[in-house]
Amino acid sequence: MSATTLSGVDRPLTALHSYDVHRVRQDFPILSQTVRGKPLVYLDNANTTQKPRAVIDAMHTFYETCNANIHRATHYLGMQADRAYEQGREKVRCFLNARHFEEIVFVRNATEGINLVAQTYGRVHVREGDEVLITAMEHHANIVPWQMLCEEKGAHLRVIPIDDTGELILEEAERLITPRTRIVGITHMSNALGTINPIEQVIAMAHAQGVPVLVDAAQSAYHFPIDVQALDCDFLVFSGHKLYGPTGIGVLYGKKDLLERMPPYMGGGDMILSVTFEKTVYNDPPFKFEAGTPHIAGVVGLGAAIDYLTSLGMENIASHEADLMEYGTQQLQEVPGLRMIGTARRKASVFSFTLEGLHPNDVGTVLDMEGIAVRTGQHCAHPVIHRFGVSATVRASLGCYNTREELDALVCGLHKARRLLS
Ligand code: ALA
Repeated sequence: MSATTLSGVDRPLTALHSYDVHRVRQDFPILSQTVRGKPLVYLDNANTTQKPRAVIDAMHTFYETCNANIHRATHYLGMQADRAYEQGREKVRCFLNARHFEEIVFVRNATEGINLVAQTYGRVHVREGDEVLITAMEHHANIVPWQMLCEEKGAHLRVIPIDDTGELILEEAERLITPRTRIVGITHMSNALGTINPIEQVIAMAHAQGVPVLVDAAQSAYHFPIDVQALDCDFLVFSGHKLYGPTGIGVLYGKKDLLERMPPYMGGGDMILSVTFEKTVYNDPPFKFEAGTPHIAGVVGLGAAIDYLTSLGMENIASHEADLMEYGTQQLQEVPGLRMIGTARRKASVFSFTLEGLHPNDVGTVLDMEGIAVRTGQHCAHPVIHRFGVSATVRASLGCYNTREELDALVCGLHKARRLLS
């Protein structure tokens, strides 16, 4: 019997017994509706996930019972709001198994977390002629902030290539980490291919050269457990809205000593200890990076999402989705003309494909008429889509509430698309 690893690759078959997906579905009000007269089949989870009632209720209750600003209001409601916000931070800390609460910084989303690191750590450490290393399968959020930094500093962006299955070429990673490398940015899981990267190995390689690593966990954090201490990553980011939580809230994890030495990102209230016109003394992490009134209800909602996922068990979710992956991969192979883009051995929860002779957008339109929500296009990851010689794909992506029946509906929809569009 295999065990779920940090990267969620293998699945513990025993865990499936306790996972009742039909019961899980009842927790998500939106899933019971019909769309265009058909039961909604939501397969656009890599884009954003749906929200369980627990998250919706927690945010509603916050606004109804203890809304106030945090870290500055000394009245009763202010203290309630403070507690709710910092409880949310503690939930994130436990979820990631971070050592210290100071290591959990609230941002708007994974994108903002990466920009924060590029503009603070990056601006201090990256100089002319230096190198920033990323991979060929990054989302634009883990490309553009580094490009902007490199442009400003006269540094170079280097890219670890991938093979035709969508796996990282590790030998190249080893070769590309040089004395010039100042930071490595790597996605834990590709949003466009589903590839799960061997980040433990990349982190070890980078650390052997004294290079810190930022992990983009936007696509992995809601599929399988993450342990930042075991990974030993230096930074890690994810977005709340992909983790069944609200939009507008995200997390940057950073090792305490690194955050302490980094300059602030934005200036304003709450990130300071004292201000005069001559000099400002900055607050300590995480507050140093949380200027202005944050998305307090968002943190409450994210905390509720984490409680919900913990009650389901991240290992159980990983097992359930691994079962769907296996089933879906078999079923999709039967669709004539279907080319799977991304066939890595370590892969999760994403089917990205083309149908011979059909434009992905047209396929998506036919699926939509069947009540099936997928994403079509380049998935904010132009370079990796072009790497496979296609201009776009259809992407069906899984969440904790999807079923085998929904994958059957997808396959039926694809047959229909072939009939109508060929
Ligand atoms: N929202 C982006 C996607 O759909 C990240 O993959």
